[in-house]
Amino acid sequence: MNTVITIPELRARRLELAGPVGLAPTMGYLHEGHLSLVRQARRECASVVVSIFVNPAQFGPHEDLDSYPRDLERDLELLRKEAVDLVWMPTSEIVYPPGFQTWVTVDQVAQPLEGSMRPGHFRGVATVVAKLFNAVQPDRAYFGQKDAQQAAVIRQMTKDLNFNLEIVVCPIQREPDGLALSSRNVYLNPEERRSATVLWRALSAAQEAYRGGQKQAGRLREVMREVLAGEPLASAQYVSCADPDTLQELEGVVEGRALLSMAVMIGKTRLIDNMLIGG
Ligand code: PAJ
Repeated sequence: MNTVITIPELRARRLELAGPVGLAPTMGYLHEGHLSLVRQARRECASVVVSIFVNPAQFGPHEDLDSYPRDLERDLELLRKEAVDLVWMPTSEIVYPPGFQTWVTVDQVAQPLEGSMRPGHFRGVATVVAKLFNAVQPDRAYFGQKDAQQAAVIRQMTKDLNFNLEIVVCPIQREPDGLALSSRNVYLNPEERRSATVLWRALSAAQEAYRGGQKQAGRLREVMREVLAGEPLASAQYVSCADPDTLQELEGVVEGRALLSMAVMIGKTRLIDNMLIGG
């Protein structure tokens, strides 16, 4: 496994890789969710590239950029075990050198849900992912369904900017009790950790209602809100039943697929989760 920092080093190593090349972009502090992307890339591609970069541009001024968990040594050890070919871990100065002034803004699909709660977040994500695509030139790029709107934004950007690669979205990896794996789960104290299963419980209750014949989008949102309201440590930022591609809220009867999603504060920790239903 080669590790590189600068763009010239990356480009030199990239030339040596057999195709197809799969890229899994990450912010490090790797868990089984990240590793599931790496494993799928390993199965489907001749070469696997992983990037590790805590992207300052996608954090808001009051978000957890400085405290975001990091453990590079452990990350590299895990990636070595997965037989990754190349790891790119640029510095902020390499990605955003002095004078940097070009940004990628995706419009409608980036506006609701996470976009409305985290202004500028998807501008930061789209810009860094565009730069990763240009620098690495992968044939396939692997993202998690955990960040469903992020995947939709990247798909839109890839199409609109004619990036010549395939976006692959991998299933959400969960703890045995349903909590979606996330680097931010380390912020939870034991009591909060127990409460954090409420996201999964709310999504499952709505799925069950849907399967039992409840097809009203508004009612499915209510089912999720009711479960969340029953958890004292939880406070919902948004609860959504939306079109999985456009992320527009559905009204009336759900026809075809719908994305149930939510952002919930558990104490000071912000968690997101989602589930696809129907179709
Ligand atoms: P990060 O939060 O490190 O996540 C990297 C990738 O792992 C994302 O595609 C995310 O959806 C996926 N992932 C995280 N938890 C997962 C889980 N429980 N199951 C399946 N996949 C999971 O997302 C980012 O970094 C950044 O925004 C990035 C795309 C790297 C751009 O900076």
